[in-house]
Formats: sequence, C-alpha cells, structure tokens
Amino acid sequence: MQPDKTEAQKWAKELLSQMTLPEKVAQLMQISCQHMSMEDVEMWVRDRAVGSVLHAVGEDALKVQRWALQSRLKIPVLYGIDAVHGHALHNGAQVYPSPLAMACSFDAELLEKVARATAMEVAEDGIHWTFSPLLCLARDTRWGRVGETFGEDGYLAGEMGAAMVRGYQGKDLQDDGSIMACAKHYIAYGEANGGRDSYDAQISMRKVRETFLPPFKRVIEEGCASVMTAYHAIDGTPCTANHEILNQILRSELGFDGLLVTDWDNVRSLVTKQLVCETFEQASKATLETTHDLIMYSTEFYDATIALVKEGALAESVLDDAVMRMLLIKYRIGLITNPKKVRTEQSAAYQYIGCEAHRRLGEEASEKSIVLLKNNGVLPLNADESIFLTGPNADDELATLGDWSFFTHPCPDFSRKPKDTIYTLRRGLQAISANFTYRKGCDLEGCTPQQLEEAILEAKKASVSICVVGDGFYQMGEHYDRSDLSLPESQRKLLETLKENGNKLIVVLLASKPLCLDWAKEHADAIVCLFNPGQQGGLAFADMLFGKTQPEGKLPISFPRNAGQIPVYYNQLPGWHAIHYCDLPKGPLYTFGDGMSYTTYQYSRLTLSSDCAKEADTITVSVDVTNTGSRDGTEIVQLYIHDRVASILQPVLSLKDFARVQLKKGETKTITFRLPIQKLAIVNAKECTVVEKGMFDIYAGPSADITKLLCAPLKVE
Ligand code: NOJ
Repeated sequence: MQPDKTEAQKWAKELLSQMTLPEKVAQLMQISCQHMSMEDVEMWVRDRAVGSVLHAVGEDALKVQRWALQSRLKIPVLYGIDAVHGHALHNGAQVYPSPLAMACSFDAELLEKVARATAMEVAEDGIHWTFSPLLCLARDTRWGRVGETFGEDGYLAGEMGAAMVRGYQGKDLQDDGSIMACAKHYIAYGEANGGRDSYDAQISMRKVRETFLPPFKRVIEEGCASVMTAYHAIDGTPCTANHEILNQILRSELGFDGLLVTDWDNVRSLVTKQLVCETFEQASKATLETTHDLIMYSTEFYDATIALVKEGALAESVLDDAVMRMLLIKYRIGLITNPKKVRTEQSAAYQYIGCEAHRRLGEEASEKSIVLLKNNGVLPLNADESIFLTGPNADDELATLGDWSFFTHPCPDFSRKPKDTIYTLRRGLQAISANFTYRKGCDLEGCTPQQLEEAILEAKKASVSICVVGDGFYQMGEHYDRSDLSLPESQRKLLETLKENGNKLIVVLLASKPLCLDWAKEHADAIVCLFNPGQQGGLAFADMLFGKTQPEGKLPISFPRNAGQIPVYYNQLPGWHAIHYCDLPKGPLYTFGDGMSYTTYQYSRLTLSSDCAKEADTITVSVDVTNTGSRDGTEIVQLYIHDRVASILQPVLSLKDFARVQLKKGETKTITFRLPIQKLAIVNAKECTVVEKGMFDIYAGPSADITKLLCAPLKVE
C-alpha cells in the first residue's frame, strides 16, 4: 500500500511547525557511529535529534534508535549502510559477488533477487537504506572503484541498477523487508582525470547528458527514492555545489523528488579540499541551495547553518523545504507508520541474515558471474585430473569477497574471523574432494625462491596447474587507483615458472577489475575471469571446472593490453589517425561482451520488421541463434546500433538491449527485440536529445567485437 500523500504532508507540516531551528538543521545531518565516540553519538541523537546515522550494525543500531526516541520530538533516525553486494558489512550475512562480477551475468532478474535478499537481511538489522546501486561507468580502469560498478556501459548499468532498485525497494517501501535504494555517485564520478578518484572530470555537460545521465534517468523512472552526489568536480564545479546537474537536471528535468544526500564529508571538502568556499557557512549554503536534504558526516554544517539562518544569509524556507523532504521520506519508507521499522530491540534470532536460501542464491550469482576468456580444450577438466592449485588469491578470503565487506569497512580489520565459510577456490576444490595440492606460490607482490621451488615441484607432479592471480585490498576501492595494471613481477614469474615446468596451465583472474593478461592470453591453455566472486565463489568455480555447470558470463568491461592503452571501452568515438598505438596491436585484449562457454553458438537471419521508420515508431529486430555445440547452454545475445552520419560524433557501437537465451544442443531460437526509435536519440551540440534522420546500422551478436556481429541497415525518416 502506498502511503497517503495528504496524510504524510499533514503530518510533516505539523511536525515542522513544532521544530526549533537547531532541530531542523540536525534533521538534515547524518553522523557516523564509526568516527565518533558513542557518547558523542548519544549527544547528537538524543540532545540534538540528528536525522540519520550510517554504519551502525547490531546492538549499536538498536541503541541509537532508542536514543532517537528519547529526543524531544521522538523522530526516528534513518539508518543507512553500504550493502552493495549483500549486507556484507555484517559478519555472517551473505556476501554476493562484486557488482562488476554480477554484471557479467547480464541477468537483471538475478540482480533483482540478490537485491531483494539483501534488503531482507539489511531490514532485519533495523536498517532502512542502502547506498546502492552504484551507476558510475568504469571507463578508465586505473580507477580504484571499478569493482563497485556494473562496468563500462551506461545501458547495462541502467538495467542492472533498475533491477536492484526493484529488489531493494520491493512493491512497497513501507513493507518490513523493503529498504530504500540510493543511486550514486551523481554524476560522471568514474570519469575523473587519469582514473584518479574524486578529481576533476574534464567533460562537457553534453557528454554528461549523453553518456552518464541515462543510467540515473533509468533508475529514477524505476522509483529510486534517493540519490547521492559525487565527490568530484565537473569542469571545475564540484558536484555538491553544481546547480546545473542538481537543480536543473535532477530536480527539474528528471523530476526527482526523493532524498538527495551528499557523499562523505562533502560539505567540509568544499572548504578544505576543493577550495571553492572560504567558510563552512558558504559551503553549507551552497549544499542546501543545490537541494541536498542530508549532509553526510560534515558536523560543521550544524553551527554554520544555524548561523546562516540567524544572520538572514539563508532563507529559512530553503531549510524548511529540505526538512519537509527528509520527513516525507521517513514517512514514505514506513518509519512513522510501521512500528516494525523502528527497531529498538532485537526480537528473535535472525531469520534471514545468512540463511540457506540466500547462500544458494549466492552460489547461483557466483556461477553466473564466471567468464571464460580462453579455452584451447583443456576445460572442462576430466574427473581424474590431478591439479596443482596456486597463486596469491587461490585461498584469500578478502579477495574472494572483495571490497565493502566486513573485512574492509567501516574500518579495515583483516584479522576478523568470518562466522561462516568463505569458499575460496581452495575450499571449493576441497568441498568437491578434487584431487589437488595447494601452495601459495607467491604473494601479491613478492615471492621467495622457496615458494617457487615448491611450485616447480608440485607443477611437475600435476597434470594441470591452476594459477589464481589478481589484486588485493590495497589495490582496490577508494584511495587505491593504480597507474599500472600489469600483473606484478611475482605473479608473472610464478606463471612463467608453471609454464616452463608444469603441464597444462589455467590462469584465473580473481581481482577487483581487469588486469593486463597479455602474457596469459598468449601462453595459458585457458583463462577464467571471476573478478571478486563472493562467498560461494569457490564452489561455483569447482563446479564449472569439472563441467557440472558451464561458464556463461560475458564481460561488462573491456580489458586493456596495458594501462597506456586506456581508454579501451568499446563505445569509442570514431577517430582519424589515433585509433590505435603504433606499438600495440589494434583493439583491447578482450572487449565488452566477450565470453565463451563449453558449447558454441551461431547467429543467422538478422531481420528488421521494417527497414524504414519514423521517430515515434517501434520496430522489432529478430535474430536466430543456434546452439551448435554438444551441451545445452545459455547465450547472452546483444543488440547494438551505430548512427552512420550524425551532427555530432557518435560511438562506433552502442548497446541498446540484450537477452539471455537458453538453448538445448542443436536447438535454434529466434530472439526478438523491440527497438523504439527513440532509443536511437543522440544529445546534440545544443544539449538537446533528438533523433536525427538518416541511416543506422543495427547489429546483433555475441559481443562488441564488430567482426562477430550481424548487421542490417535502417533508415530513419
Ligand atoms: C563514501 C563513498 O564514496 C560512498 O560510496 C559511500 O556510500 C559513502 N562513503 C558511505 O560509506
């Protein structure tokens, strides 16, 4: 049931009229239990009646809500947490693969289920809100936060994000198991210069609209109730203080009326880091005037905003508008109408956190996230194969879970003992009683002669070596951008040693992002990409290895040959001389959409319902896909377009749709996509979204490798 809007308005107005100026200001603030003493938290919550708290789990969260209910007006606090791939900051909750890994499934239904399950676990902890989905595009893979994204493409990110919003928010945000989603980081955060987190993005507003806005637009249409602004600046204007992207585009053009929250300490950073405001008063004013409703962490906002209103430098109506939005959100998500949402005591043992059904869903997600990039016939392995498992990430719990898990946040603590089994690849092989030996072989960045000697010994005995390479905590996430994406010397050396001394070699990438696998592409017998595969990753890997299941994921991101080749995203603009470097082969090592399985597919008969259409029309695009291999399987079919001549440069290819299709061996199915001609719109030089007349190429096929796509012309009149 949707809350009664008039009731909500009446309640919020009445409450607003009773609030003092300091109470109004506090309502717009979010404090962190991890960065303050609990005495300070108590003061902020009970005495000042702060509106929101982040990163409190378990008893701390319950305690804070009890304090809120002892404040003068007894307004419940709104809890937020980064549950970005499961309720993963809670030790014991189910941790799914990283968003980048899950995007390899191209499976919106799966992501919706994962988000729903996450919501049930988060809600069980008395928390109302997750800072997810992340809709930034990973177009510069040196950026530390690539693993949090759904990859490089805006259409895919929008579909995956929308699915997660549906899952988190459920049918009704007031339901016990529904939580509020948050689309972040608005906007173009992944595009900062040089892949350096939170720097300036040197892009035009036209580019913002064309490339980065679509996924946000998509999730707002889906009803996403909150948005988080980004740390960085666009062409010199910090997102937090950017009228064009916030007042104009978000609020006015997209009609977003939900909660707008700053990212961590953004008010302070306007003064101390970005240096666009001299005082906290200026920074607080700028943030309110760009329609933020909640200020994450910057506690200076409190005194500064009270002073601003008292001095007459900020109209109290601006403050009131924000407080109204904040109160209405609390009403909308059930904090006022559903007592179960305002949890002060843990009622019973957990029913959902880490439950069996979520573990199974985790395994399904891990399975669908696996991408096979090379296979010269070595996979699947025969049951009698003897394996030497090695590599720095073969038995690493943190790398298996990835960033934003209880090891890494809110404060990194690698010594925390997981409550439940985290299936590293080693544990996965143990679980199926595979015939294998294990030695680490090397560390992420270093190896001893003894490690290599052991590796030689074991590799010689085994029929196949599986080497699990990748990155670790200090190479992923906020603050950890990298200038070099090649495998460190130690890992490279281990691979070479295995190649020289062993038999067959399978390279597994267990990393937060694409690393340069040029050596592996040339020398390994197979390459499997797992990214951060989640808690059941090892089980899913073991099943895939022996052919119980088969890899069916595809890359949501392209792999560079080396960091100097970046950007290598597939949807580049056409160029003239500089489309590739004279010292590198053309194109990325692997491109968006790539991925093999144990069976093969053939595409034929690409057909358009009409080869000529008008702006308001919708055509259908059909293509036959045949499973030509010897196993049943699921193929991810992709639909791309190319605008042959446009008033402004257009990408060589743009993804417009995709479908997962199950095919029995030998079976052929016709896949039909609806293509509204509106999807061919571009953002022209005047920043207007228009469909331009002319010829388009419509492509369908298995990946963004143009040589593998079928093509049909379409005329738009
Ligand atoms: C900073 C991160 O940029 C953002 O993604 C996260 O949601 C907030 N901190 C809260 O932890």
